[in-house]
Amino acid sequence: VKVGEFKLRSGEMSKYYFDMKNLVSYPYLLKKIGDEIYKNIAGKCDLLCGIPIGSIPICSYISTTYEIPMIMVRPSVKNYGIRDNIVGEYNPTDRCIIIDDVITSGGSIEEVVEVLEGKVDLVGAAVIVDREQGYTCSVVVESLFKRSDFEECNLKTNEVNNEDENKVFEIKIRKPNDFHHHLRDGETLKTSVEHCFRNFKNAVVMPNLVPPVITIEQALEYKNRIEEQNHYNGNPMMTLYLHKDIKIEDLRAFKNHKEMIGIKLYPQNVTTNSKDGVANIEEFNHIFKVMEQEDIPLMIHGEAINVDIFKKEAVFIESTLPKIIKSFPKLRIVLEHISTKEAVEFVLNNNVHATITPQHLIMDRNDIFRGGINPHHYCLPILKKIEDKKALVEVAISGNPKFFLGTDNAPHSEGSKLSCCGCAGIFNSPVAVQIIAELFYNHGSEDNLEKFISTNGCDFYGLPYNEEYITLREEPWVVPKRYGDFVPLMIGETLLFNII
Ligand code: DOR
Ligand code: ZN
Repeated sequence: VKVGEFKLRSGEMSKYYFDMKNLVSYPYLLKKIGDEIYKNIAGKCDLLCGIPIGSIPICSYISTTYEIPMIMVRPSVKNYGIRDNIVGEYNPTDRCIIIDDVITSGGSIEEVVEVLEGKVDLVGAAVIVDREQGYTCSVVVESLFKRSDFEECNLKTNEVNNEDENKVFEIKIRKPNDFHHHLRDGETLKTSVEHCFRNFKNAVVMPNLVPPVITIEQALEYKNRIEEQNHYNGNPMMTLYLHKDIKIEDLRAFKNHKEMIGIKLYPQNVTTNSKDGVANIEEFNHIFKVMEQEDIPLMIHGEAINVDIFKKEAVFIESTLPKIIKSFPKLRIVLEHISTKEAVEFVLNNNVHATITPQHLIMDRNDIFRGGINPHHYCLPILKKIEDKKALVEVAISGNPKFFLGTDNAPHSEGSKLSCCGCAGIFNSPVAVQIIAELFYNHGSEDNLEKFISTNGCDFYGLPYNEEYITLREEPWVVPKRYGDFVPLMIGETLLFNII
């Protein structure tokens, strides 16, 4: 959007010029805008009509991405009864939508309407910006933005501060921490440890190995294997797997080992390597008692056994979690990877903290099936409804100290993700920080980013704030298709921020 004195096609003068043609220089924006327009027109048309030259790039993007054929009409070429001002094939029954960049008086759309009259079934027009100058048009026009939307945001800043125009937007925050991370073991450590500590200073390392990590000795040996690959000077914080054979003397010795951070409760068979998990919670009361005395945090995979996959979390929160809290009011609890609005409510109203993953903040259950089944979006807890996602986003961006990032980064080889019994887990460590930054930025909440991604979790676990900083720069970054054997979340997508 340019600010100055501009003469418009209609002859009027304007202080603002919406130069949407320039979008060709910003492919990631063009793509985003195209996707947004498509959401408004999906299912309503069989043919798109672009108007040279302004709307051709965006119209072509929508056409090729969503496989809707397209025609082009040159508005200023008068119709002499020959077809040469319409490029492309069409039928009278085709439901057609005209795509344009900006609407001012409605003149150019109207010229196209005249050309197409009787030749196609014209259902409307979709534009990027409505200048709100009272256009007249004989078809329904849907706009993505209105002039007043721009006036409310940064047109003024552009005007008064020309120096800022070329400045790249950057966010500087304390290096993030990940309070829920699966590093795996063996060969995988090479890739997993690198991507973990490139972007995170501290990482809470999950114990669901085969066999599970149930003693401090095993945890420290596992930590040594991690350290062999730790080239970014990260801090792996180790956990034990809540198990019937867990030793009381280990619980008593827990606080003497600064490497140890907590104990993870897996209900039996709810997720990867949880067959040794808890079947009957009451059998673990003596352990919870000691954990409460020793101030050892309990991290909970909060899903009920043997209920509908979409209800597991809500049922656990209703039936099991209140019992633990009631019997052990001083036990410090983190409800891991919360995925529902019920969980958000519960955490807000009880003495419990929670981690949230990037995938539960940006996707809902439809994303597992969009355009065909996508095993890379299968994780546990499974993605839930849009309303659940909204509730999670709201508390995350609020900066509320009870909520912090736990990526649940869970690499499985491409083969085991794509098998007929595909594994649950999303490999997100290379993209998690950038995704969360974009989400906060899009909500105008970048001031709370550091709380969610770095400091809130330190407050809960009593860790010092990181003195290292990272800078997120607003420059498009395309997510690679794979890292070794692992396919990352948002594969091939263009993200708004890059870490520099
Ligand atoms: O999707 C998941 N994958 N959820 C979990 O709880 C475990 C994780 C894994 O270890 O693969
Ligand atoms: Zn996990």
